[in-house]
Amino acid sequence: MTTTIKIFQTVEELAQYFVSLLTLRIRETPDNHDFSWMLSGGNTPKVIFNEIASTSGNTINWNRILVFWGDERCVSPDSHDSNYKMARENLLDHVPIPCSNIFRIRGEAPPEFESDRYAEQFRQHVKTFEGSPQTDFLMLGVGEDGHTASIFPANLHLFGSNKLFELSEHPETKQNRITATGKIINHAKTVVIIATGEGKALKVAQILNHSTGCDTLSAALVHPENGEVVWLLDRKAASLLA
Ligand code: 6PG
Repeated sequence: MTTTIKIFQTVEELAQYFVSLLTLRIRETPDNHDFSWMLSGGNTPKVIFNEIASTSGNTINWNRILVFWGDERCVSPDSHDSNYKMARENLLDHVPIPCSNIFRIRGEAPPEFESDRYAEQFRQHVKTFEGSPQTDFLMLGVGEDGHTASIFPANLHLFGSNKLFELSEHPETKQNRITATGKIINHAKTVVIIATGEGKALKVAQILNHSTGCDTLSAALVHPENGEVVWLLDRKAASLLA
C-alpha cells in the first residue's frame, strides 16, 4: 500500500487535482475494461462533482464508467438528504453517462433487504481480485467525528464486517444508513479521502499523526492492502498536521 498526502491552498485546486487523478487512473485502465467509481456523500464532493461536470463531460469515456455509492441515507432518492440526489444534481445530470451505468442504493427500500441486494449487484458488476470485488476508484469523506462512509465511532465494528455492505445508523439523528465496509474500502485499487475546512482539522491530524485513540475512527482504518490511499486536504483541514 502507498499513502500520498496532498495539501491545497483552495478547495478549487483540490478539485482540479482530483479530476486529473481520476482521469489518469481511467486512462491507465485497459480500454476494454469498465471502470468502477464509488462516490462518497455529504457536502464535500459537490465542488468536485461540479468541476468534473464543467470540464470532463467529453474528456472521459463515460460509457466505461460504472458509478456506485459508498453509503446512502435510507431516504427517498428525491430527499434533500439523499447522496444519490446530490450526485445526480451536481454531476450525473451533466455528463453523458448511460443510466444503466448508475447503480444507486435504493434508500427508499427496506434497509436490511437493500443492503444485501446492493451487495449482490455490486458483486455482479465489479471485477474480482483475490476472490472479492475490487473497486477501481473509491471516494471517501471524513466526518468531524472521524467517521468515513457511514461507519461511526459507535458502530466501528461494521468496518471489519465480512459483508460488503451493512446497515448503519447516524449517532445523533438515528437515521438509517447503508454503508460499504472495510471489505470494499480496503480492497480498492485507489482510495481518495477528501477533507476540507477547519472542522475536520482535529480528526485529520489525529489520524495522520497516528495520535492515541485514532484507531477508534473508521477513517483511520483505511489501508487498501493492494492499492493506494490519497489524502486530499485543503490548508484548513491540514492546519493541525505535525
Ligand atoms: C455521508 C458521507 C459521509 C461524509 C462525511 C463528510 O453520507 O454523509 O458519505 O461519510 O463523507 O460525513 O461529510 P461532509 O462532506 O458533508 O463534511
